[in-house]
Amino acid sequence: MAERKPLIAGNWKLFKTGAEAVETSKKLASLVGQINTVDMMIAPPYTALSMVAPVLQNTNIGLSAQNMHWAKSGAYTGEISSEMLVSAGCQYVILGHSERRQYFHETDDDINRKIHAAIDAGLKPVFCVGETEDERNLNKTFSVLDKQIEIGLKGANFEKAMRIVIAYEPVWAIGTGKTATDDQAQEVHEYLRKRIGELFNSEVASTMRILYGGSVKPNNIKGLMAMPDIDGALVGGASLDADQFSAIIKYQ
Ligand code: 13P
Repeated sequence: MAERKPLIAGNWKLFKTGAEAVETSKKLASLVGQINTVDMMIAPPYTALSMVAPVLQNTNIGLSAQNMHWAKSGAYTGEISSEMLVSAGCQYVILGHSERRQYFHETDDDINRKIHAAIDAGLKPVFCVGETEDERNLNKTFSVLDKQIEIGLKGANFEKAMRIVIAYEPVWAIGTGKTATDDQAQEVHEYLRKRIGELFNSEVASTMRILYGGSVKPNNIKGLMAMPDIDGALVGGASLDADQFSAIIKYQ
């Protein structure tokens, strides 16, 4: 099995002004900036990206946006392109987060376009998938995930697939304090890896990092990371505080 370097990612969502983001990222840089046993990244809001970029410069913490448009430029008021993110200092972009799907009606096809545009610009997409509570109760978890990854990854070749990180975030576990159990998460991660193997090949399946997201905290990260198919975490609430997020990064 390929050695997959863990990735611990912080999604700051709609929190923090530029000054607040700089303050938190400075603290984070001093606490964990030189760690190299795991990859790390934070995703501040758009307005803070170019302010946080120089703070992360000589650290191992990567910079990510939370979304982008698929067009390079054009009459799309309010949108941000992949090139703009690269020029602001981003290496990653979170795409298809359930909050984008749920509140802003992003479709699997939209997300597919964004994934291609992000990779073409040199960004690494963190592609989010996950079922709602109703879908889980109706035993539709795997069919929902199948559709999300089949459409989301449509047209991606081997080279592109090797740049993608998947984040499994069950919607019912986001911001609810209701984490999936280690076994529930592992079951889905194992399934996703198997499907990635079928969609691409075994090399992509064994190399691709699959993160878990949904109420990850310092007290549950260790158990999740002990699962063979969980390669990191996409952390919301607990990533807003440098001490808590550092504790998650130092789970080992
Ligand atoms: P919480 O960690 O706050 O549940 O958020 C998870 C998430 O949505 C990360 O993208």
